[in-house]
Amino acid sequence: MKHIFQQGTDQNKPTFMLLHGTGGTENDLLPVAGMIDDSASVLGVRGNITENGMPRFFKRLAEGVFDEEDLMKQTEELYGFIDTASAEHSFDRKNVVAVGYSNGANIAANLLFHYEEPVKGAVLFHPMVPRRGIQLPDLTGLPVFIGAGKNDPICRPEETEELAKMLEAAGAEVTLHWEDGGHQLTREEVEQAAAWYQRSVL
Ligand code: MLT
Repeated sequence: MKHIFQQGTDQNKPTFMLLHGTGGTENDLLPVAGMIDDSASVLGVRGNITENGMPRFFKRLAEGVFDEEDLMKQTEELYGFIDTASAEHSFDRKNVVAVGYSNGANIAANLLFHYEEPVKGAVLFHPMVPRRGIQLPDLTGLPVFIGAGKNDPICRPEETEELAKMLEAAGAEVTLHWEDGGHQLTREEVEQAAAWYQRSVL
């Protein structure tokens, strides 16, 4: 997958796998990673799909309606890519924290829905429920931060709560942070994610 890797100054810190929103690139979340921990390594990934010229991580049939077959295919590819990238760039495969926004948060959530310990932790900014009606793997103790907007028209609050409950039922340690706003990613929620990272991941 198209990506950038930047080696952090502290080798013991996690590698942040950055997953952009629709229309983003592998560089979008670099400032966010820097705000969470500026000494960690970063692997910025670009989604394989383009929708009217906008990069995405998987196809959708309409706004908020996912192409499940493609979602599964792309999730498998991303999972395999973490292995390949860790060998190529010599980072610890077991010390990867996913940081995703919107479409990127949705594929990160789907990784959690299908693999046991696909990552060490996950920051999901404005995620949706990627799939329903499936049995989640055992996620006991896996730290997950969810940033959500009370007025987010794309990721509605009920869906955010549903996702948090599904992850918790699988054993994940979910921290849910609410903003008053909509779908945009705010400085405040990144600061909350940074505090969560200090408490729950390091
Ligand atoms: C998705 O397709 O993942 C969601 O609709 C969010 C987005 O628009 O990127």
